[in-house]
Amino acid sequence: MLVTTREMLLQAQRGKYAVPAFNIHNLETLQVVAETAMEMRSPVIIAGTPSTIEEYAGADYIKAIAEVAGNKYNIPISLHLDHFVDVKAIKRNIDIGFKSCMIDASSYEFEKNIEIVKDIVLYAHKRDVTVEAELGRLEGKEDNIMVDEKDSMYTDPDAAAEFVKRTSVDSLAIAIGTAHGLYKGEPKLDFERLKKIREKVNIPLVLHGASDVPEELVKETIKLGICKVNIATDLKIPFANAIKEYFKKHPEVNDPRKYLSPAKKAMEDIVINKIKMCGSENKA
Ligand code: 13P
Ligand code: ZN
Ligand code: NA
Repeated sequence: MLVTTREMLLQAQRGKYAVPAFNIHNLETLQVVAETAMEMRSPVIIAGTPSTIEEYAGADYIKAIAEVAGNKYNIPISLHLDHFVDVKAIKRNIDIGFKSCMIDASSYEFEKNIEIVKDIVLYAHKRDVTVEAELGRLEGKEDNIMVDEKDSMYTDPDAAAEFVKRTSVDSLAIAIGTAHGLYKGEPKLDFERLKKIREKVNIPLVLHGASDVPEELVKETIKLGICKVNIATDLKIPFANAIKEYFKKHPEVNDPRKYLSPAKKAMEDIVINKIKMCGSENKA
C-alpha cells in the first residue's frame, strides 16, 4: 500500500534522520528506488514533477507502478507530487489516489502563497493527503521552473512560523542556500538560519536541491532538523552516463534491457549512498 508522507516524516523528525525523496521518470528508475529502499529497509518517497507525471509518463501509469512497489515491499513507500504549481492538477491527482503533494507557490508573494496553500491543505486533509509547501525561493532549474540567482530568496524564520500557522501545512521546504541542479563551487548553507527556523517551526522541514551538496553538509542539516531530502540530479547523471558508456563500447546493441541494466546499477549505487547519508537505513 502507498502511504502518506505525514507519519513517515514525523517519525524521521523524532528519530533525527531524514527520509530521502527520489525523483523518478519511468518504470526503471522507480524500480531502482523502491527495490533499493526495500533491501536497505528504508522508508522512501517516490517523487514526480509535473513534466514527469502530467506530460512524460502519465499519472495513472506512475501511480500503478508505484502501487505495485507499495504492495510488494514491506516498507513505507509514498508517492509524492513534487513542485506542482497547478492547483487543479494536484486535486485531480489526489482524486486518483496520490497521497502526498507539494504545492509550490513559492514564486508568489507571501499572502498569495498562503492563500493557494490553504486551498490545497483544505482539499488534501479531508482526503488524508499530506501537503508540503515552500517559503523562500531556491536558485536553479527544476523541470520547467527556472530561478536566477538574483531572484532566489532565503526563508525568513518569523515568516516561516506565520506561514505554517496560517496554512496548517504538514511540511515546509526552506531555502537556506541549496539550489536545484549542480553548483558552480561548493554550496554555502546558512545553518544559523536553519536553526532559527527549527526553533520557530515544529513541522518537518524539507531540503530541496540536495544533489551535489557534500554529504557532511547534508548530514549537518539533518542534525538541525531537516526530515526530507530531495534528490534528482545526482540520480539522472549516473543513469545517463552509464548508457553513454554502454553505447561507446557496444554501438551495435539495440536491446533496452541490455543498455538500461548498467544504468539501473549505476543509479542503485547512488540510492544506497543517499539512504546512508539520510540515516534512514533500517528505519522501515
Ligand atoms: P537536485 O537538482 O539538487 O537533485 O534537487 C532535487 C529537488 O529539489 C527535487 O525537488
Ligand atoms: Zn525541488
Ligand atoms: Na543541487
